[in-house]
Amino acid sequence: MKKKKRSLLLATTIIGLSAILSPLVTVGATNNYTVSNWTREHVTNIELTDRNTAPVINMDELEKFDEDYHTWDSWPLKNKDGSIAVVRGYQIIFALSAPSHVLPGQVHDIAEVRYFYSKNGKDWTNGGPVFEDGDALGSRQWAGSAMIDEDDQLHFFYTATGRKGEEHITYEQRFAKASADVVASRAGISFENWSDHQIILEADGEYYQTQEQGSQGDIAYAFRDPEFFKDPKSGEEYIIFEGNSSGAPADRACLPEHIGSPEFAENHDVPEVSVLFNGSIGIAKATNEDYTEFELLPPLLEANCVNQELERPHIIVKGNNYYLFTDTHFDKYAPGITGPEGLYGFVSDDLFGDYKPLNGSGLVIANPPENPYQAYSWLVLPNGTVISFVHFTDLGDLTIGDIGHQSHEFQFEHFGGMQAPSLKIALNQDRTHIVTELKQGAIR
Ligand code: FRU
Repeated sequence: MKKKKRSLLLATTIIGLSAILSPLVTVGATNNYTVSNWTREHVTNIELTDRNTAPVINMDELEKFDEDYHTWDSWPLKNKDGSIAVVRGYQIIFALSAPSHVLPGQVHDIAEVRYFYSKNGKDWTNGGPVFEDGDALGSRQWAGSAMIDEDDQLHFFYTATGRKGEEHITYEQRFAKASADVVASRAGISFENWSDHQIILEADGEYYQTQEQGSQGDIAYAFRDPEFFKDPKSGEEYIIFEGNSSGAPADRACLPEHIGSPEFAENHDVPEVSVLFNGSIGIAKATNEDYTEFELLPPLLEANCVNQELERPHIIVKGNNYYLFTDTHFDKYAPGITGPEGLYGFVSDDLFGDYKPLNGSGLVIANPPENPYQAYSWLVLPNGTVISFVHFTDLGDLTIGDIGHQSHEFQFEHFGGMQAPSLKIALNQDRTHIVTELKQGAIR
């Protein structure tokens, strides 16, 4: 794949313009790159087929890690190189959790990270909250990632949402990091000798929208879901994350590169409110060995005028290719274009290269039309196994926005709050397909 070089615009130095101009970016002395776009034209190529549509989930056959807790976003402990860690025979999964009696719509307001471990990948023990009481930053913790290094040190990255002790919940999102020793014994897995929790990154307002900018007429801002990534080609280490393109709506515009080819644009209407849809996939480079200092770099990809939320982005390297995956919801698309709740992906032979949507549209896994909200928060593991959680099943004609208006009984009955059956996908250059369904929560 050839890197497309556009004319050198010095937009990165002009606050607010970086989102408008999609420039060739100069990072340090050596790194030049173009921010890739997921366009409205790409999205109109979305088509559900048996290669990308997940089998229907039957919740009756599934069980929670622990009946007392809902869990949703999850991530296994990984080694630095992204492979799944096995610590003295144990696999370890971290998951956002809330007690089972909490209504589905409220779980995000009290999310706490728990961990679960297993020797056989089927029977899981609830290890309890990951962090020691009162240590975690934020009023609650949202998704992140966890890496174990050569010295059995856990490096844990998470989203600190709101502020500790706040009276009413707020939505500020910052990245936090803490480390601990991973201790494995016959009794199971525990984390000991915790470091202080530190804020390691905040939105800068130049590359990534701040909460303040996002409050000037936008739908919402995101700066969350830090995912550790070591580039096997350069050896450099990064955090990949969900952001929004910077600036307030008044500073942004829907430009030709957000729409697609001139032929497409000619017959395609872009409703004005599309400018409020500014999802982006961000990247920051580790600049110290403790992973407490990072340099924010311009986004790898933006979905301006296309989609509002590119959640839990992560990278898998296969052969010479970087596969950049993200999740989004049906109701996060800008008006005039549409796509299913699904896993989407992009491919490039250069980490900072020109990412092309997989399968021509970006769609990799879609929920089936008969059960359009059945799973969410897909995470692709290096072996092509994809984990996710059961969201809402068998809703009939209701959409996700209607759920909060239903009886509590109805909400609990249709909410999963547990691991979904995993899927195996195959990646072939810029094409993917679902190979098979695996057991619930399988990570191998
Ligand atoms: C995806 C998500 C993440 C966030 C978490 C909050 O399901 O929206 O982006 O970290 O849920 O619960």
